[in-house]
Amino acid sequence: MDKFLIKGGKALHGKVAISGAKNSALPVMAAALLTKERITLHNIPKVRDLITMSKLLAFMGAKVSITDIPASDYVIQAVTLSDAVAPYELVKTMRASILTLGPLMARMGVARVSLPGGCAIGARPVDLHLAALEKMGAEITTDHGYIQAKVPNEGRLKGANITFEKITVTGTENILMAAVLAEGETALNNAAREPEVTDLVDMLRKMGAQIEGDCSSTLRIRGVEKLHGTEHTVIPDRIEAGTFLIAGAITDGDLTLTNCAPDHLASIIAKLEQTGVRIETIDKTTLRVQGAKKLIAADVTTEEYPGFATDMQAQYMALATQAQGASVITETIFENRYLHASEMLRMGANITVDGRRAVVRGPSPLTGTPVIASDLRASASLVLAGLVAEGETVIDRVYHIDRGYEDIVKKLRGVGAQIVRLHIKD
Ligand code: UD1
Repeated sequence: MDKFLIKGGKALHGKVAISGAKNSALPVMAAALLTKERITLHNIPKVRDLITMSKLLAFMGAKVSITDIPASDYVIQAVTLSDAVAPYELVKTMRASILTLGPLMARMGVARVSLPGGCAIGARPVDLHLAALEKMGAEITTDHGYIQAKVPNEGRLKGANITFEKITVTGTENILMAAVLAEGETALNNAAREPEVTDLVDMLRKMGAQIEGDCSSTLRIRGVEKLHGTEHTVIPDRIEAGTFLIAGAITDGDLTLTNCAPDHLASIIAKLEQTGVRIETIDKTTLRVQGAKKLIAADVTTEEYPGFATDMQAQYMALATQAQGASVITETIFENRYLHASEMLRMGANITVDGRRAVVRGPSPLTGTPVIASDLRASASLVLAGLVAEGETVIDRVYHIDRGYEDIVKKLRGVGAQIVRLHIKD
């Protein structure tokens, strides 16, 4: 298992190019199952989860062509689908495999998808996805760890009026993909408004889908008989951009982020500015971040978009360890998303966690020590803590970070960080 070795204390300076959004690439790749025609995708980040998604699509019989390995351009064509199955072996490494359920049901009227288990940050059920599909006429059973779904009498899913009890990002995407080929109209109320959902809407519309209400919490979909091929470029990764904003801020550096979408980062930028970090929007795709001589504590509550993203909570906690005063962090989306806090404590941070609330008192001088990454964003937060810690930090289980950050070591080294990947033979 590889590790990262970081020697902290260097201010980061220079330019970082932001990659495409993993959480956009996953649903748009799954959407390729909706048509027999060719889908060409650009700006796919070179991260493990997308290799897993391409394996999953290939397992189902789609042809996935790439020019390089890893690739940022994919051509996917699902002329026929031999297997409407998402097997446990792939699903267990990537929960987002559930995103194939909606497209399979729309195209084939049948699907067998392994139930994603819980994960480190919470139980993460998929009950809302299933309830919505049932409302559209699917018959669903779960046995032997699999979701078995089918439309009776080899028919099509039917449009329905669906209200999500809770806002769910992949739930919205899954049912959106199910609805585009359903008979009649579907309304998705209390839908997620994340930019990644809007990106999927854009792509589906280019494939011929009839959708209204993007960026709002009600999506209206009029099902069509079939969809066609298209070409699509996924949006920039707002979480990678947010992570680099904090990397610039925490090291008191000066970073310019290119290829990003400042519009998608409004709540993150506003929060960082509240702590004294200077952020300048240079143009529609470029941001500049400069550290503050003194960071000031600011409370944060995670929320669905356009609120402060739960996927930025761990990285924000790293910054809060360096801010003057008490920062109260409230995590409203996932029930167990503070696993990074205990590792930061070992580095010298002052953090108390009580249920969904964490109080970080700072500034605390951090010192390097061996730490263990527990999930994707937690790993990023430990990298950030390591960048500012005195001495050497060794992060174990970095396979988590490889799931979602393209070339993080190379990008950080390019702006002056002292970080190396240690290849450790098991
Ligand atoms: C997506 C993102 C993930 C992000 C999360 C919240 C992808 C691939 N992943 O995950 O990075 O952290 O949104 O912004 O896009 N819930 C239920 N029942 C369901 C579905 C969800 O109770 O059927 C709950 C979850 O347990 C959680 C909340 O709803 O507490 C939000 O989860 P959801 O938006 O579905 O997260 P994901 O789509 O899995």
